[in-house]
Amino acid sequence: MSRAFDEAVKLDNEYVMHTYGRLPVEFVHGAGAELIDVDGNRYLDFLAGIGCASLGHAHPKVTEALMQQLDRVWQVSNYYYVENRGELAKLLSELLSTTTDEQGNVTGSTGTVWKSFFSNSGAESNEGAIKVARRWGEKRLNGAAGIVSARQSFHGRTLATLSATGQDVFHKSFGPMPAGFASVPLNDADALVEAIEHPSEATGPVCAVMLECVQGEGGVWPATFDYLRFVRDLCTRKGLALIIDEVQTGIFRCGAPFAYQLAGIEPDIVSMAKGIADGFPAGAVAARAELADLMVPGDHGSTFGGNALAAAAARATLQTLVDEHMGEHVIATGAHLAERLAALPHVTEVRGHGLLRGAQLDVPIATPLVERGLEVGLVLNHIGDSILRFLPPLVVTEAQIDEMCDKLGKLIEELA
Ligand SMILES: Cc1ncc(COP(=O)(O)O)c(C=O)c1O
Repeated sequence: MSRAFDEAVKLDNEYVMHTYGRLPVEFVHGAGAELIDVDGNRYLDFLAGIGCASLGHAHPKVTEALMQQLDRVWQVSNYYYVENRGELAKLLSELLSTTTDEQGNVTGSTGTVWKSFFSNSGAESNEGAIKVARRWGEKRLNGAAGIVSARQSFHGRTLATLSATGQDVFHKSFGPMPAGFASVPLNDADALVEAIEHPSEATGPVCAVMLECVQGEGGVWPATFDYLRFVRDLCTRKGLALIIDEVQTGIFRCGAPFAYQLAGIEPDIVSMAKGIADGFPAGAVAARAELADLMVPGDHGSTFGGNALAAAAARATLQTLVDEHMGEHVIATGAHLAERLAALPHVTEVRGHGLLRGAQLDVPIATPLVERGLEVGLVLNHIGDSILRFLPPLVVTEAQIDEMCDKLGKLIEELA
């Protein structure tokens, strides 16, 4: 390791809060699906900053949009109109109302108008989603405020989104948790009906169901298309808001602009972040106009949310994804990735859609695999001992997938 890297480690250890266990590398340059570390070593990136660098690192179109904006104005607040914000929201509305087949091929549009609130992260987008749903409950459901999510879900690290997160491990030590949340097993229709029809006293009457189409942080566990259709129908019959958390699955990650489109459903509220601005911090919560219009001045806000830099980066990212037909590329490369992963030794199952994939191993070597991966130039990610999660930049090529899988296969054989 170089002195520059040693110094980075020393400073981090001394002055940065240790909320993450860090891997021993500092990346200083990136292009497409490749990263270069401080010592000049090359890596293939199959994490993309946890699913954020959708167009790949430092994409020229996003860089250009940001450079132009850097020279003009950065932050004026949401008291004023902001360049690019309206165009960005319109583009999002078009993407949100897109219809696709089960692979993600575009088939048309529902014509729904979606209105967005811009935030800076996924957790903030979900906070907004929870507020819109509770406003819906207040105005349309006699004050119902309960929200039912799924076990093993992940919705963020703020207190309300932790409460919505159906994993007890995240609730320890930081209580009391905000009230009004319950979780039921994913893909269990009866459990959901029970939680809505007989909510606990702590949850109270339910105003919304909140789901990920694929539980990314939980281990890449997809909701079945039938379950998503059932939930949509149930929410419609009972007048509940359906919130789909697309923070990890959205923005073409699963082939379609948003993963709910694979199941042929349309939610009421959608949260997003990660890939929306190619890694520039930005997020949004969008709602169908009927719900969005219940939010009035003073109800919600964010100093930075949707500022001039974020709006420029997000607009350039989305426009480029559309112009370059990224959905079609993701469908093809995602299928290739799934096929190659399934053929690796000790992989018993490959889950997910598009370029969000989980490989289940029958040996608990996921942690050392990620560590050894770095030594052979692979940026990998694991969830627990036996799940590898793949979230490459959407621009990843079949040749890069082949290179990663060839190296990974050898590492698995070495460690198993
Ligand atoms: C589905 C989902 N929701 C919310 C979040 C939280 O996003 P952020 O870390 O940007 O707050 C994540 C992050 O991994 C996520 O995967």
